Amino acid sequence: MGVIMRSILLTTLLAAMLAACNSGGQSGAAADAGSDIKAIQFVTTQDGQPMEIDLKMFDTPAAKEFLATGKNPYIGNEEAIKEGKKRFNLFSCVACHGGHGEGAVGPGLIGENFRYAKNATNKGMFETIWHGTNGGMGAKGFGLMAPDDGLKPDDVLKVIAFIRSHAKITGNE
Ligand code: HEC
Repeated sequence: MGVIMRSILLTTLLAAMLAACNSGGQSGAAADAGSDIKAIQFVTTQDGQPMEIDLKMFDTPAAKEFLATGKNPYIGNEEAIKEGKKRFNLFSCVACHGGHGEGAVGPGLIGENFRYAKNATNKGMFETIWHGTNGGMGAKGFGLMAPDDGLKPDDVLKVIAFIRSHAKITGNE
């Protein structure tokens, strides 16, 4: 009897574990349903091909709004601009682009002429910063610099807000 009891217990335990695994899988699938969100289509600055980006990283109200509209809600927001400036320094943008994005060894970022015309828009600049270029600008998106390093979408929007704070255009035109 003892043996049977134990095997019933084991079977119950196994069933419970399997159920737990399954429900884990299901909640994962539910999170993936995020792909239903209305999102703009990103393309790389390298070759204009679709840019893969995990939509779950758009995890703040501003980032979600950007994902839906392509407009950067942080433009003109003093707090966000300050945060963007910190990241502009932290990620060495300053070393190549100058303290105000006026240009140094890298090109100026405040316009009016951009190497890549798309950088006049915030969607275009987001793509350039996230995925880099073929001509000396490395990808700065989270996971692309190193597995656990890089700017999150919300950070990129703040950096752009900082850059635009010195420019004549907002990029949301
Ligand atoms: C090691 C130097 C270096 C660093 C660091 C760097 N960049 Fe660049 N960046 C460049 C160069 C060089 C180019 C020109 C690339 C090309 O012509 O393809 C460039 C291009 C760009 C452009 C496109 C400009 C245009 O005229 O179209 C943007 C926007 C930009 N960088 C933003 C940033 C931001 C924001 C950071 C920090 C997160 C950063 N870069 C860090 C060197 C750098």
